[in-house]
Amino acid sequence: MNVFKINGKARLSGNVRLHGAKNSALPILAAAILVKGECVIHNCPDLSDVRTTVKILESLGCTVKRDGDTLAVNAENIVSSDIDEQMMRTMRSSIIFLGSLVSRTGKASIFYPGGCEIGTRPVDLHLKALKSLGASFCENGSSIACTASEIRGAKIILPFPSVGATENIIIASAISKGTTTIINPAREPEICDLADFLNNCGARIYGAGETTIEIDGVERLHPCEHRIIPDRILASTYMSAAAITGSEIIIDDIKPTHLAPVFPVFTEMGCKIYLQGNSLKIQAPKRLGRVRMIKTMPFPGFPTDSHSPVVAALTTARGTSLLQENIFENRFRYVSELNRFGADIQVNDKIAVINGVKHLHGANVNATDLRGGAALVVAALGAEGASTINYIHHIDRGYERLEENFSNLGADIKRINNEEEKNYKKIITKDSK
Ligand code: UD1
Repeated sequence: MNVFKINGKARLSGNVRLHGAKNSALPILAAAILVKGECVIHNCPDLSDVRTTVKILESLGCTVKRDGDTLAVNAENIVSSDIDEQMMRTMRSSIIFLGSLVSRTGKASIFYPGGCEIGTRPVDLHLKALKSLGASFCENGSSIACTASEIRGAKIILPFPSVGATENIIIASAISKGTTTIINPAREPEICDLADFLNNCGARIYGAGETTIEIDGVERLHPCEHRIIPDRILASTYMSAAAITGSEIIIDDIKPTHLAPVFPVFTEMGCKIYLQGNSLKIQAPKRLGRVRMIKTMPFPGFPTDSHSPVVAALTTARGTSLLQENIFENRFRYVSELNRFGADIQVNDKIAVINGVKHLHGANVNATDLRGGAALVVAALGAEGASTINYIHHIDRGYERLEENFSNLGADIKRINNEEEKNYKKIITKDSK
């Protein structure tokens, strides 16, 4: 098991470049199986979730080659429509293969993704939408078998703008008979990226990012080259780290419009943000100010995935900040770990009350989920003394070489494995004698 060792309080400086968005890469890779030929996908981050997606693609018959941050996915021959239970459990978002498999092969057999670290994650909206498009389901409690002789366009009203359900509908109906209309779709930038990818392949998807999406089904798609958008959640993680350490850093390859929902929160903290083209400079004050209230909402609201790193930054702000989590009910599990640094956060149902303290101290903590894990890194960077973060496989799901990037910014952070951890302890004990 790897852990992060962090000595906090180093001032960060310099430039860091964002990698491609995990939440774009996963649906785009799943959508690539609609194309009989080789799609070339650039800026595809090397994350454990992406590696799992690649394994799923290979198990279905695709060949996938990585060259740096470019993945070439050839889905000429699909030999299976089944996703293994273990892979489904490793990555719950593999539900996104439902729409692409049923469209490409007329059937799909998957396991329920089940609950996860941040909530129950039901898939009712995915299934209902695919039924409207002509799919039938046979469910047995743990698995779902889906068949469709053809995908027919339909009008689908989503009661909640689910990101995954919107993606499944777009993917399933790209090749279909007739027109599909999605009312109240998710409007996240990753939805636009998926639509751009499919449109580059010859699909006819209109209105991605707006309140209604229309998809005129086409007969087939052709291969294309596509560049994944930069990861806006990674950007807000770096911004949180700069904020808690009172630093000035430059984040390159950003899309300002994707980050618009988080800017007001950082400016309310007292950070100055300067935009120049696709770069952002954040300049944090010595001590952050509190933020009255943050409410997580679907895009263009404040992203739920940015919630945890931002709360970590607010632990040392002057005054009391409030955050209301409206998307995932279980997203506060990392809070008790944050409090081990000396933070003072109380959670009441959907609301976290963050009473700013003057200093955090180093702590030995466990990452509970991907973004909660990133919050612990942010806290450790701002804490006085040494911290250990365990279970960092959660963090590796969404952050590529996080330790290297923070080191380049001047942080004292190391990834060490079990063996090194034992030696490290020996050295520390010897030195302290
Ligand atoms: C995606 C992102 C995740 C992000 C989330 C919200 C990926 C791989 N993951 O997750 O990082 O936090 O969007 O921005 O892109 N819901 C239902 N029924 C359904 C589907 C969803 O009740 O059939 C509920 C969920 O339980 C949750 C809410 O809707 O409370 C949002 O879920 P959704 O937008 O679907 O998120 P994901 O696509 O799972």
